[in-house]
Amino acid sequence: MRRVSNKFPTLLYGGDYNPEQWPKEIWDEDMRLFKLANINIATINVFTWALNQPDEATYNFDWLEEIIDKLYANGIHVCLATGTAAHPAWMAKRYPDVLSVDFEGRKRKFGFRHNSCPNSPTYQLYSKRLVENLAKRFGDHPAVMLWHVNNEMGCQCYCERCEREFRKWLQKRYGSLDELNQAWNTRFWGHTFYDWDEIVLPNLLSEHIDRDDPNQTVFQGISLDYYRFNSDCVLERYLDEYHILREITPDIPITTNYHGHATYQPLDYFKWSNYVDIVAWDNYPAFDTPISTTAFRLDLMRGMKQGAPFLIMEQTPSQQNWQPYNSLKRPGVMRLWSYQALARGADAILFFQLRRSIGASEKFHGAVIEHAGHEHTRVFSEVSELGKELQTLGSTFIHSRIHAKVAIMFDWENWWAVDLSSGPSDQLNYVAEVQKYYNAFYSQNIPVDIIHSESNLSDYDLVVAPVLYMVRAGVAQSLEAFVAGGGTLVTTFFSGIVDEHDRVILGGYPGELRKLLGIWVEEIDALFPEQSNQMRMVKAVNGLQSAYNCGILCDLLHTETAEVMAEYGQDFYKGMPCFTRNSFGAGEAWYVATSPEAAFLEHFVQHLCDSRDIRPVMEVPEGVEVTCRSKASKDYIFLLNHADEIKHIDLGDKCYKEWINGETVKSELYLPSKGVMILEEVQIH
Ligand code: GLA
Ligand code: ZN
Repeated sequence: MRRVSNKFPTLLYGGDYNPEQWPKEIWDEDMRLFKLANINIATINVFTWALNQPDEATYNFDWLEEIIDKLYANGIHVCLATGTAAHPAWMAKRYPDVLSVDFEGRKRKFGFRHNSCPNSPTYQLYSKRLVENLAKRFGDHPAVMLWHVNNEMGCQCYCERCEREFRKWLQKRYGSLDELNQAWNTRFWGHTFYDWDEIVLPNLLSEHIDRDDPNQTVFQGISLDYYRFNSDCVLERYLDEYHILREITPDIPITTNYHGHATYQPLDYFKWSNYVDIVAWDNYPAFDTPISTTAFRLDLMRGMKQGAPFLIMEQTPSQQNWQPYNSLKRPGVMRLWSYQALARGADAILFFQLRRSIGASEKFHGAVIEHAGHEHTRVFSEVSELGKELQTLGSTFIHSRIHAKVAIMFDWENWWAVDLSSGPSDQLNYVAEVQKYYNAFYSQNIPVDIIHSESNLSDYDLVVAPVLYMVRAGVAQSLEAFVAGGGTLVTTFFSGIVDEHDRVILGGYPGELRKLLGIWVEEIDALFPEQSNQMRMVKAVNGLQSAYNCGILCDLLHTETAEVMAEYGQDFYKGMPCFTRNSFGAGEAWYVATSPEAAFLEHFVQHLCDSRDIRPVMEVPEGVEVTCRSKASKDYIFLLNHADEIKHIDLGDKCYKEWINGETVKSELYLPSKGVMILEEVQIH
C-alpha cells in the first residue's frame, strides 16, 4: 500500500457537523461560533446519502460545495465523510437486497443506519459510485484534509446472499469439506457436511440459542468463522471505498471511525488497522466508566498501528443520549478527558456534535452549540477555552510516541472464541480479565502497550497475556523465544486451550504453552459469583502478602519444571498450586491459575516491575495519571488530576516548563482537582 502522510501540522480540534439539517441562514452563525470555539476541522457529510443522491442517476453536491467553501473561507478544514453509512429509502424500496437480515432471521425494512447488507450488489455498486463522484468533485479542494469512510462500520447480516458468500469464504479457507469437517469437529451432534450448500449461517435459526446473547452457540467452529467472515466482509466494503479514494486522491489520508461505546467486538480492528492511514476512535465513556477503562481503550487504539498517534474522531462535549442515564460531564471533566486522550497518544480531539439537532434520537445528545443557540453556555465556553489551549500547544507534542517496556496482549479472535465458549463459566469475561491486569499497571503509572498475539515482542521486557485461550500457529514459539531471550511472561488460567479452530490441544492444558510454563492442568473448577478460594503464598515474593482471594475459575494443576509460588487455601484441591514460576532460557514464565483479587495484581505487578527495573513515569499521588510522550529527544510529561481534591507533587531537584500556561515549575507543584499540566524538563541556569 502506498504511504501517505498522516501527520497533520497541528492538533486537530472540531467535530461532526450536520449543516444539512439546518437552513443556510444558520451556517454563517455556525462559522462565527466555530471560530469563537477555536475549531479548525469539521467532519461533514456523514449521513447524507439520501440528500446527495435523490435517485439513481442524480448526484447533488452543490450544497456540499457551498459549505466546504464556507468552512475553508473561515479557516476550517474538512474531514470529508463518504456518507455511505445509511442507504436512501428509495434504494431500499427499489432494491431490497440492500436490506439486511437480522440475527433472528428477519428481513429488515428501511430505517435506522449501518443497515446495509455488506454483500448486497446494490450497496456495492451505489456506494462505490457515490464515493467516486465525491472524490472527483472534492478531491482537489484544499479544505479536504482527511477522508472519513462510512461511519462506525459494522453490520451482521444473515441473508441468503451472505450465506452464499460465507460458503465461498469457507471454500477459500479450507479448500475441501474434509478439512472443514475436521476443523469444526462436525461429527459432534451429527453435523458432517457433504456439500457446501448444506452449510447455513450460524444464528438464532441454526446454532445459536439465546436471543439476547449472540455469543451463545452450540457450534463454536462455525460461529467463530462467521465472526471472521463478517469482519472481513465489512472490511471489504471499507476497502472498496479506500481503493477509489486512494486512486483519485493519492495524497489525502483515509480513515474510518472505530466504535467507542465499548471495545467493539465484531470487527478485528488489529487486522483493519493495516488499511487505515490513521486510526480514529469514538470515545464515549459514561459518567461512571472507570478512568482506567478509558485509558485501556486509548492504549488499545495507540496499539492499533504500533504506537502511531490516533484521532479522537468523536466524544461528547457534555452528555450522550443513548446511555440509560445521560449525566453531564462535570465542569472541567471534558477538558480533563480530552487531555487524557492526548496524553495517551491522540493528536486530535473532535466532538459529536457541533450543533445539536432539533429532531430524532440525537436531539438530547450534547453539542458544542446547544439548543439555546448561542455561545453563552457552560459547554461552549469550556469548548472554546480548550480550543484556545490546544491552539497554543499547536504542534508541540504531536507525532510523539509513548515508550513502554510492558505489553499486554489483546486479541480479537481469542475474544470471540472465549465468548463463544460454552462453559466453564458465564462469569469469565475476556475483556474484564485483560482490564484487571491493565489496571495494576495503570494505577502505578507504568506505560503499557497493547499488542496482539502475533506482534513482535522484542521491544518489551514484560509481556502479559491474560486468558490466552486460543493459541494460533506460531504464537507459542514466539512467546518461547521471547522468554528464552530473557523476557518475563505472565499468563493465566484458561490459556493454551485451543487452536485457531477452537479445537482443544490434547495432552493437558495449557497445550503448546506447557513447556514454557512448566506445568500441566488437569481440571478447571468454576466458582459461583459468591464463592471464592485463597491463594496462599508458599514462597516469599517481594511485596506480596501471605494470602489473597481468588475466584471465577480455578485450575487444578501439576508442576513439571515450574516452582510453586502459591497454593489454594481451601476446597478439595487445597494445597494444589495456583501460582507458578518457570525459568526458561534466560527468562521466566509465570502462571496465575485463577482470577485473583486486585490487590494481588497490584503487588505482583509491582514486584515484576521492580525486578525488571521498570519505573513509573513519575511518582505521583493516587488519583493522578501521568504519561510521557516523546519526540526528538524531548519528553512531554502529562499530569492529570482525576481526583476531587488538589494534589501535591514532588518534583525533586528538577525544573520544568509547563506548556499549557507557559510557567516554570520546580521542586514541587500543586495540581488542582481536574487539573492538567504538560511538563518538559529544562536545565536550571
Ligand atoms: C456514534 C456515531 C455518531 C453519533 C454518536 C452519538 O459514535 O458515530 O454518528 O450517533 O455515536 O453518541
Ligand atoms: Zn446479507
